[in-house]
Amino acid sequence: ENIDTVVFENSTEASKAVAKQIAALIKSKQENNESCVLGLATGSSPKGLYAELVRLHKEEGLSFKNVITFNLDEYYPMEPDSVNSYVRFMKELLMDQVDILPENYHIPDGLLTKEEIADYCADYEAKIEALGGIDLQVLGIGANGHIGFNESGSLQNSKTRLVALDHITRVAASKDFFGLNNTPRTAITLGVKKIMEAKQVILLAWGEGKADVVRKSVEGEVTNRIPASFLQEHSNVVFVLDKEASSKL
Ligand code: GLP
Repeated sequence: ENIDTVVFENSTEASKAVAKQIAALIKSKQENNESCVLGLATGSSPKGLYAELVRLHKEEGLSFKNVITFNLDEYYPMEPDSVNSYVRFMKELLMDQVDILPENYHIPDGLLTKEEIADYCADYEAKIEALGGIDLQVLGIGANGHIGFNESGSLQNSKTRLVALDHITRVAASKDFFGLNNTPRTAITLGVKKIMEAKQVILLAWGEGKADVVRKSVEGEVTNRIPASFLQEHSNVVFVLDKEASSKL
């Protein structure tokens, strides 16, 4: 079954609309004295969303005191204060600018030893489960159809784990790392299973560079070659697109 899409004139308008929806969820949870569990993504696609959430905090008093977040992924190995770490990305763009409690945001640890990774990943999933799962998962999409760092070939029931990055993913990242040689070869990612268990999923895609993979994910066959296509089997998912990213639907 095709995935529902919502198309906006541009990514700024789209990001504002998604921020409004997330703010409404946070507030409705607050009214019930409940925590709001968000799954968050990195990459360029959610930057406008985070900027708008920060604006809602600073200008309209939106509080993140009841918000608990789990990021999808982190490069491995990665120092948390390195310029390219997702820890740094999230702190700069969101966490350090809102009133979320430091113990309430989670980003996979890029400093673990190889031996520690399996237990760490199991614990990451256990923390999510203990909170009753992810209320709303924000996703971007790689040009190869990856979600988080679940590359082509990832299974629908895959767990949180250490993965090898595809060449195409590393090429896309290499501009940030000053060349392919300095670009990490591995990462820790939330598995497809936990993404699929999120109560609601919002995938953001902008620009004509994403148009092909958006079409394949929304209308193509469900296949582990395009992990985003697994979302066709999710009961509450929407792809939020700009005109360019929707142009091949
Ligand atoms: C990285 C991230 C993904 C993200 C993808 C697309 O690979 N790990 O979570 O969706 O990039 O990035 P962008 O939004 O910059 O196109």
